[in-house]
Amino acid sequence: MNMHIDQAKRILVANDRGGYTVPTDRLYPFQWNWDSAFVAMGFALYDTDRAYRELERLVEGQWADGMIPHIVFHQPSDTYFPGPSVWRTKHTIPTSGITQPPVFAIALRKLYEAAGTQAEARTLPLYEAALKWHRWWYKARDPEGTGLVALLHPWESGSDNSPAWDIALARVPTTTQTPVVRKDIGHVNAEMRPRDDDYKRFIHLVDVYAACGWDPAKQWEKAPFKVAEIQTTAILLKAGEDLEHLASLFGRTEDAAEIAALNDRTRKAILAQWRPKLSRFVSRDLISGDDVEAATQAGFIPLLSLDLDTGITDALVTEMKAWSKGLKVAFPTTKPGIASWEPKRYWRGPAWAIINWLLIDGLRRNGRPEAAEELRKSTIMAIETEGFAEYFDPVTGEGCGGLGFSWTAAAYMWLM
Ligand code: DGY
Repeated sequence: MNMHIDQAKRILVANDRGGYTVPTDRLYPFQWNWDSAFVAMGFALYDTDRAYRELERLVEGQWADGMIPHIVFHQPSDTYFPGPSVWRTKHTIPTSGITQPPVFAIALRKLYEAAGTQAEARTLPLYEAALKWHRWWYKARDPEGTGLVALLHPWESGSDNSPAWDIALARVPTTTQTPVVRKDIGHVNAEMRPRDDDYKRFIHLVDVYAACGWDPAKQWEKAPFKVAEIQTTAILLKAGEDLEHLASLFGRTEDAAEIAALNDRTRKAILAQWRPKLSRFVSRDLISGDDVEAATQAGFIPLLSLDLDTGITDALVTEMKAWSKGLKVAFPTTKPGIASWEPKRYWRGPAWAIINWLLIDGLRRNGRPEAAEELRKSTIMAIETEGFAEYFDPVTGEGCGGLGFSWTAAAYMWLM
């Protein structure tokens, strides 16, 4: 067997905490939502039982209103901030109070296809959980029915300190009721992490929403940060397509029609966010009403869930090539050379294997197998050279952030 696959599997074993996988030891010692969905797809390649377990453990954290939180605190750990006492949520198993990109149904379809029809009984409860979550997204995060879903916290994007939030986040005060006691910079070089002011704003938002008792309608009204986000919406649409597919397979015709209508609305809404002058799709800041023009990877993610016309696909691929030119590892999460580009700082420039995975799928879907193959090889090369790092400096290729990272291991197996 390829020794790297062997290593990837060993990382997943080392990060197993009893049916769920932590993203990496100490830095992220709990179950994270979209991490687990990617990890489940990795497991689906060789151990479907364990893959199902990953998703089953995640939905133990699902709220009564359908939200699947971004962190499930299955067992205590003192190596992470902010823990349950900062979130002050009411779920039986402690959880955070915000969510994360809905990769879950994408993973569920892959699992079901890997496990075969005998897995229907095990798939159905997870299908129901996904359906509830998708309904929550549309009700809680798109109450006006625009087709785009909004994030109320940068952590919900998974791209915590992306330049995409610079303008919207600058409006959020740095004052907090909760003392900010960072643990992350005890595990990872501070130069690779969000800055202190980012953390103060992240925690300010948590305080505001905790004061709303985590009620979605109150949060919507009070939110000092509200961005209808293109990457999350594109992921929601791909997951919605997979959910619709499962609904049809399971003979759930009413569900299938409901999901198809939501997908259709979202498809049109994403297309309306295409900006030819930028050669990218853009998010919308719902507080200022402005486009979010920051040059980040998010603008390319709609490749994943739309069948685009050739003109748009050509423009996206040309722009992606321009951003990747001269880099050791593609694809950068911020356009190289612009003022906000920081090739080692978390989501402000580095290349991430899971983002590449989404882009590769999107390029294939839109008939660009060569571009997909280039990105696939770049990702594999980075991992084989530097190991299963959280992310990679695109200029030097250096593996950065946490090491022994679960989703990098899953991405490697999936992309091989
Ligand atoms: C963190 O704590 O760095 C996480 O990305 C929040 O989910």
